[in-house]
Amino acid sequence: MLKPAVAPSASFRLTPVALACCSALLLSACGGSNDGNSLSTLNGDAPLVVAHRGASGYLPEETLEAYSMAIDMGADVVEPDLISTKDGVLIARHDPNLAYSTDVANHPEFASRKKTTQVDGETQTGWFASDFTLAEIKTLGGISTDAERPQQYNGLYKVITFQELIDLVKAKSAATGRTIAVYPETKNPTYHRDLGLPLEDKLIDLINKAGWNSKTAPIFVQSFEPSSLKYMRSKGLNTKLIQLIDADDVNLKTGALTYAVPYDKPYDWAKAGDSRLFSAMVTPAGLAEIKTYADGIGPWKRYIITVKGTLDASGNLTDINGDGKINEADTVSQPATTLIADAHKAGLFVHPYTFRNEKRRLASDYKGDPQNEYLAFYRLGVDGVFSDFSDTALAARKAYLKEMGR
Ligand code: G3P
Ligand code: CA
Repeated sequence: MLKPAVAPSASFRLTPVALACCSALLLSACGGSNDGNSLSTLNGDAPLVVAHRGASGYLPEETLEAYSMAIDMGADVVEPDLISTKDGVLIARHDPNLAYSTDVANHPEFASRKKTTQVDGETQTGWFASDFTLAEIKTLGGISTDAERPQQYNGLYKVITFQELIDLVKAKSAATGRTIAVYPETKNPTYHRDLGLPLEDKLIDLINKAGWNSKTAPIFVQSFEPSSLKYMRSKGLNTKLIQLIDADDVNLKTGALTYAVPYDKPYDWAKAGDSRLFSAMVTPAGLAEIKTYADGIGPWKRYIITVKGTLDASGNLTDINGDGKINEADTVSQPATTLIADAHKAGLFVHPYTFRNEKRRLASDYKGDPQNEYLAFYRLGVDGVFSDFSDTALAARKAYLKEMGR
């Protein structure tokens, strides 16, 4: 789900996290060792920068232009969400509801297809990809999904198929000599299966056709729904698999993660009557279970560093920056959890999401500098980050590697 974002430089106050992780004595407690320049990632490699929906901080997300920009910035990996068209083609879109990320509302020829329906138990009104052929969807343009980001490119760039992204990644890898990876997500897999448009077999076919069905291929396959990952593994998918772990929000008064439908649990668990929440996945038992079918976890970053606001004498949240709003800019980062160390102990890599540059999404201890947030997570040993701003993630990684003597 769309979640707002958050870490150190020489001029800012060190958080408990930064203090712990800057200390050689305590570094092993942060999930790694310090022998001078070894990194505390699972495999000792530098953390990956995953371009979340492409260079989505700058251009309409999940378009060829947004992915090209991210690759040109130097991103290691590009991330598409996959949904299905009416004619069963996998396209790169975050939501089945096309109203959220395309200009479909401006197309009078499709006005009659507007409807109200349920997606993962949530009532939505709009235009749904399962009612449109690929040819029809190709007449639409992508739009920004964040009103505070550039709007001048709205409608200019087309919706693309996953195959078109594979082709782009292969062409860019050949042209640059870099190995650029893709990170497809099966989006709303139970919803699509219920519609008669299951995603998994088509995704496996495309991966086989790309010659990427192996653990070492430049591809990571992710999902919030365990059954989608387990199904693909059972059908012979051998790529790296990642279990995503969501929550609804943070209670800024306590720093505790909150669990409201439909972000409380994977939808396949909800349909099966499984009472567990996503939080069950970050326990040692939960991680051990994930390790039986996946290679890594993609947790919302608040599972690693949560944030907490400041309370006044009456127990109300304080607008510490005086901008008239209470948001993450009014919070302070809390000490890191043991999730990275726990996941690494279970043999799972950790790719938290989503890192964003907007000041309103940065805890106050980062002093408005998004690089500080990346630094905090890199120092803790994350194996990669999902970022809307790959250029910032890469600049922070360069600073981190320099700090580590690399
Ligand atoms: O897939 C990682 C991250 O993208 C999960 O959140 O909602 O942006 O797909 P979402
Ligand atoms: Ca995603």
